[in-house]
Amino acid sequence: MRVIRTKDYRDMSRKAANVISAQVILKPNSVLGLATGTTPIGTYEQLAEWNRKGDCDFSQVTTYNLDEYRGLTHEDPQSYHYFMRQNFFDKINIDLANTFVPDGANPNADEACSEYDRMVRDAGYPDLQLLGIGRNGHIGFNEPDDHFSKGTHCVNLTESTIQANSRLFDNADDVPRQAYTMGVQTIMYARSILILASGPEKAQAVYDMCFGPVTPQCPASILQLHTSCTVIADEAALALCP
Ligand code: F6R
Repeated sequence: MRVIRTKDYRDMSRKAANVISAQVILKPNSVLGLATGTTPIGTYEQLAEWNRKGDCDFSQVTTYNLDEYRGLTHEDPQSYHYFMRQNFFDKINIDLANTFVPDGANPNADEACSEYDRMVRDAGYPDLQLLGIGRNGHIGFNEPDDHFSKGTHCVNLTESTIQANSRLFDNADDVPRQAYTMGVQTIMYARSILILASGPEKAQAVYDMCFGPVTPQCPASILQLHTSCTVIADEAALALCP
């Protein structure tokens, strides 16, 4: 695990965008695994700016997002699909036909998840997987558990995740209670991983991820075992780390 310390969120975002941009320059038809949430927004903004200036071309890139709320259609403004369009896809020259998010509108969880697994596998798994980390160490929607999950599956969101995500909804009751998420094993199949963290509320999770035991109680801790994992985090998120 390589840890890069940045002075603040802006610095984190620029460095992360540099890593993703380098990936796309070196391999124009890269498969990128992408995340939603607050953390990567600055990275997406920076990449969109470079794309506008002609410095980063996404025309041959394919993307697979980590997760989607169960029960929301792609058009729902609260869906992760919508989030990706608003914050990234509609601002870059990517072919929307090459952007994939689990199908939250499919009520048949087994079908939606196995179909998504098949698509990610057929694409050869991401060259680079971008991740954020939850305050409890979750990655994707893989919450602390007594085992590491494998493929894409349906999860019941924990109360803390519902509360954390409620900031993007009118109130906590509107937050869907279930989501489809790539499993930890699928995430580990990515050839390289870039995980971002910003702010003091992530400090404990970042410490546990980097220095704690590898345990499903902190799903991100398994990234210690990945052969090419880079953490880019700001001072506040690294406050507990030596
Ligand atoms: C989002 C995702 C989540 C977030 C995590 C951190 O697709 O999979 O694991 O990365 O909840 O969220 P933020 O960035 O909002 O703190």
